[in-house]
Amino acid sequence: MKILVTGAKGSLGQDIVDIFRAAGHEVIQTDREELDITNREQVLEKVGALMPEVIINTAAYNFVDNVEDPEFFPIAYQVNAEGPRNLALAAKTLGIPFVHYSTDYVFSGDKLDGYEEDDQPRPISKYGETKWHGETLVERVGGKYYICRLSKIFGRPAISENGKESFVSLMIRLAKEKPELKIVNEEVGSPSYTLDIARATLQLLADKHAPGIYHIVNEGRGVTWFDFAEEIFALAQITTPRFPVTSAEFPKPAMRPKFAALKNTKLPRLRSRQEALAEYIKTL
Ligand SMILES: NC(=O)c1ccc[n+]([C@@H]2O[C@H](COP(=O)([O-])OP(=O)(O)OC[C@H]3O[C@@H](n4cnc5c(N)ncnc54)[C@H](OP(=O)(O)O)[C@@H]3O)[C@@H](O)[C@H]2O)c1
Repeated sequence: MKILVTGAKGSLGQDIVDIFRAAGHEVIQTDREELDITNREQVLEKVGALMPEVIINTAAYNFVDNVEDPEFFPIAYQVNAEGPRNLALAAKTLGIPFVHYSTDYVFSGDKLDGYEEDDQPRPISKYGETKWHGETLVERVGGKYYICRLSKIFGRPAISENGKESFVSLMIRLAKEKPELKIVNEEVGSPSYTLDIARATLQLLADKHAPGIYHIVNEGRGVTWFDFAEEIFALAQITTPRFPVTSAEFPKPAMRPKFAALKNTKLPRLRSRQEALAEYIKTL
């Protein structure tokens, strides 16, 4: 099939391109330079000319703290809400599936045992608000949409202009550079590997699941940043002293959900986070 990928230079975007190509699909990879998803006319025109059979949107504005700033909120809203709406419209016009990724940050984080797909979002940050609006605009357009929520992804770094380091490589780098580390022991989430998310997306489309909301996460208990760092250090055999601290030690403009592990109740289970993390760390 002919697959159009947006945000293809991003962390997840690169793995989506590789996994779909490896499965024999023709992949048209685009990033902001080739297809700016916020430009509605360009989106409709390009999609109409390319005639893809599936659209997968991995583009996003992910600088969570910037979005609290009224100067950056509009650009985040355009990329995270209006962009997916534009792509959903283009996909609906062609009658083709549209895959869009969202986040655990659409939830408030007060559900201790984690969130299921149909739990009610209530974002507590401006970033979460833009991503939730993205979900609702896509749902409103309708068609064959798949909204896949992710949590704290790790994988190869983005090669785009604003690409940032993943938590895993950040921790390994800091552990080598610093005599000791302080790591926030809050924000329970479900860290997941981009390669596994890409494979699960391939399967989701192949299995022709019903349109709707899905949670794509590696299996495993929800972990705080500190817990996750402990898993990383154990696998990478790092012994740098580290200490759990509260978020008050690293004040940030945006609030984060305290308990936002995602439960996957609709798709086949992914492999465990431990197994995925071990494989990823070997690639570093
Ligand atoms: N990273 C996480 O921990 C995390 C957690 C939960 C959910 N998610 C979601 O997972 C998805 C993939 O995230 P990611 O971390 O792989 O993202 P990423 O590495 O930041 O990649 C996003 C890509 O989108 C591009 N982009 C930005 N604005 C664009 C526009 N207007 N038109 C076209 N492309 C544009 C970026 O280019 P520039 O760099 O040039 O801006 C970049 O190449 C996103 O929906 C994100 O919200 C991520």
